[in-house]
Amino acid sequence: MPKKTAFTLENNDRPIIEAQAVQKEYDTGKVKVLALKGIDLAIERGHVVAIMGPSGCGKTTLLNCLSGLDSVSAGTIRITGHDVTLLPDRELTAFRARHMGFVFQTYNLLPVLTAVENVELPLLVSGIRAREARTRALAGLEQVGLLDWARHRPAELSGGQRQRVAIARALATQPAIVWADEPTGALDSQTGQEIIDLMLQLNREHHLTFVWVTHAVEVARQAHRLITMRDGLIESDVAIAPVAASAATSSVHSVVPEA
Ligand SMILES: Nc1ncnc2c1ncn2[C@@H]1O[C@H](COP(=O)(O)OP(=O)(O)O)[C@@H](O)[C@H]1O
Ligand SMILES: [Mg+2]
Repeated sequence: MPKKTAFTLENNDRPIIEAQAVQKEYDTGKVKVLALKGIDLAIERGHVVAIMGPSGCGKTTLLNCLSGLDSVSAGTIRITGHDVTLLPDRELTAFRARHMGFVFQTYNLLPVLTAVENVELPLLVSGIRAREARTRALAGLEQVGLLDWARHRPAELSGGQRQRVAIARALATQPAIVWADEPTGALDSQTGQEIIDLMLQLNREHHLTFVWVTHAVEVARQAHRLITMRDGLIESDVAIAPVAASAATSSVHSVVPEA
């Protein structure tokens, strides 16, 4: 069994993600960069939110701060009401592993591992036994249409296939939130659309909350909500599509069937 963290995500009364007056300063020694200058934001469970803005405006920094990959310099970040900026490092790491999945532009797969080994890695790290991890990883690969490629290494897969493996890996621990930083940035537009379709399907079927950072307007316009950033601040924030009733009302449940 995965180790229980100090709290769960069962609290449905509040937005799943809340940021209040978040600032992030990078101090490189010579210069200080205020990458986030005061971000206030709330994201509802089951929504797909796209974040756009010019290069260097702070999109990746915001994603990393919201997800706890990076610390904030000021402000609070609450996940279902719990202030994660107060969690000690070890608890934060466990919390992330249990409740969040990550998808990156360049996939971040381990090249020496096969597809199924990449997907099962977070399960093994979270303490799930090898046989169950393998069963769940294979189920995850089946869900993204890659069961036949389970024993192949990343170098033998196309970009789109690699990103599917990365999505299966992100979903392996059955997270409530998936963060994706330029998930289609390295893909041609048709392959990118297939990845977007897959994430939208997972959102509808499993009530997963997605936060996409993207440069691509054609990607962003498929989200429920579009946030644009400029120079460390939110410039605009608009609802662009209704959330499907099933996604808005159903409860969180397993993406990958329990073995
Ligand atoms: N690790 C870091 N150290 C110092 N400065 C950084 C670091 N990461 C990002 N920055 C700076 O913070 C600002 C925002 O960067 P980033 O969040 O990567 O922007 P975006 O993802 O929108 O392109 C930029 O000015 C960038 O140079
Ligand atoms: Mg970035």
